[in-house]
Amino acid sequence: MKIFVDSANLVEIEEAFKRGFASGVTTNPSILSKEERTDFRQHIRGIIRLLGRYGADIPLSVEVFTTEPHEMLRQARELAEEFGDYPGLNIKVPIGWDELRVIRELKQSGVRVNCTCCMAFNQAAMAALAGADYVSLFYGRIRDIGYDARGVVESVRRAFREGGVASQIIVGSIRHIHDINEAMMAGADIVTVPPKFFPQMVSHPKTAEAVEQFINDFRNWNAPR
Ligand code: E4P
Repeated sequence: MKIFVDSANLVEIEEAFKRGFASGVTTNPSILSKEERTDFRQHIRGIIRLLGRYGADIPLSVEVFTTEPHEMLRQARELAEEFGDYPGLNIKVPIGWDELRVIRELKQSGVRVNCTCCMAFNQAAMAALAGADYVSLFYGRIRDIGYDARGVVESVRRAFREGGVASQIIVGSIRHIHDINEAMMAGADIVTVPPKFFPQMVSHPKTAEAVEQFINDFRNWNAPR
């Protein structure tokens, strides 16, 4: 069970890594577009530099930004070349018919792949069989159209385990704390979480009540008489 940071924001990433619970970072073109406009390669370099302070090969997913198959392969190779000196690099490729060729070619050249935008069991199975190191299931988006996201994660988990598939399951597209809990309980290897949820994940009104009570009781008892 692992938590990745679903963000390209340096401050948010660092706040998570400082606290020890995070073990990877996922980005996508939309996530990158939330950052200050700059050369995106420079921004990725900044993330890599930051991650280097916390470990040598922390997984970082960077996604292609085209749907045209030849251009996708070109971009993927360029990203792999540009950031290939970072051992934690994973190229994110969306699931699709032509995209499977991109995944295979990247794998043949030794590049790690995160196959993204999977909404269904069959897509996850195809991504894994094509050799993806990570298969990303989109919890919130599966639910948006009324499907059972937990069921999809459970089925993929079972099939990977029983079929001896090595691909790791990342669950993304998190919309609520409950999605994170459910995805972990359903057997996700990794849940990639938007940083706004992290403080909520350690908060509980009964915890606040208990801590306050302990401090008050002690202060009253310890006060000079
Ligand atoms: C992570 O890998 C995904 O790109 C991300 O979680 C998608 O989230 P969204 O469905 O909120 O865009």
